Amino acid sequence: MLHDPNHLYIFDTTLRDGEQVPGCQLTTLEKVEIAKDLERLGVDIIEAGFPVSSPGDFQSVVELSKAVNDVIICALTRANENDIKVAAEALKYAKRPRIHTGIGTSDVHIQYKFNSTHDAILERGIAAVKYAKQFVEDVEFYAEDAGRSNPEYLARMIEGVIAAGATVVNIPDTNGYCLPHQYGNIIKYLKENVSNIDQAIISAHCHNDLGLATANSIAAVQNGARQIECTINGIGERAGNTSLEEVAMILKVHNKEFGSLTSNIDSKMFTYLSRKVSEMMNMPVQPNKAIVGRNAFAHSSGIHQDGFLKHRETYEIMRPEDVGLAEADIILTARSGRHALKHHLERLGHHLDKEVLANTYERFLVLADAKKEITDEDLLTLVK
Ligand code: KIV
Ligand code: ZN
Repeated sequence: MLHDPNHLYIFDTTLRDGEQVPGCQLTTLEKVEIAKDLERLGVDIIEAGFPVSSPGDFQSVVELSKAVNDVIICALTRANENDIKVAAEALKYAKRPRIHTGIGTSDVHIQYKFNSTHDAILERGIAAVKYAKQFVEDVEFYAEDAGRSNPEYLARMIEGVIAAGATVVNIPDTNGYCLPHQYGNIIKYLKENVSNIDQAIISAHCHNDLGLATANSIAAVQNGARQIECTINGIGERAGNTSLEEVAMILKVHNKEFGSLTSNIDSKMFTYLSRKVSEMMNMPVQPNKAIVGRNAFAHSSGIHQDGFLKHRETYEIMRPEDVGLAEADIILTARSGRHALKHHLERLGHHLDKEVLANTYERFLVLADAKKEITDEDLLTLVK
């Protein structure tokens, strides 16, 4: 598969790894609706499900394959023939199908999960890719728990599956274990020690158990990965996956750091899509979540509000408009200064002179001490 070396491929797994979360299950119709939004958002790949896991998941992959035209539709399998055959069947309407197959490569997985040997697992991984290639051209291989795998063994596995035809090699930090420099070094090691690595795209798939999923994905890109697997709102197994919106905004804010590397993501859809996924999946977004949390663009301390109102760049590294929010929020609390109060009163059409403003501010502080947040109605009462 030809790939653009200057493109960062965004692989969305909201509907597979994200949907694995208890209570987050969606109907097929809801999945189709989100998939169409993801297509408009500009993701390159949608992981639509794990077809062998249930009839519902199978059907979702079928329907998404029909509904989506431009984006690659991917189905997950384990490294066995039945899973792969069922995935290929579910993908039969996909215009651009991808099978995502793989197996655990860490010692702990090989010993306890498979009760097997390194050589036998290597053979199974390679055989799975060869089998999947009989159905589709585009085969992604995942080395589960790569973050805790022996690097030399991992390199052997990756070299073997690329030789067998894998177009993308996914190096998951399944348990969210790695530090950014460690995860980055795994990618670097593979780049330097796998002879055929340039024939495949390296993919980062990170979990957030230590809150490092985004940092680890970025470290991977800095070391040569060109696909990031992520979800809307960072939802996913346990503490979640890499958050799509964080990755995209890092790329935008630090564009100099990433040179000519680009994605097709339209960040203006983030607020809309984050709220939609949160509501549909019944999974609230924490207020302080980066990019899409309710407070991500809300300034509440007096010092910050004053600086922000003088020049927004004092406390703003990205524009709320860039993520689809109408404007930054200046929240009025007992910590707010005169400047913030004046800003809100003027927004409501009240231009007070210095003395009246000072008096109103004194009364505002008394009210703000008594109430958690001051509303427009409170302000109008104050100036009456
Ligand atoms: O976290 C993981 O290792 C996965 C694989 C199945 C890709 O989700
Ligand atoms: Zn995962």
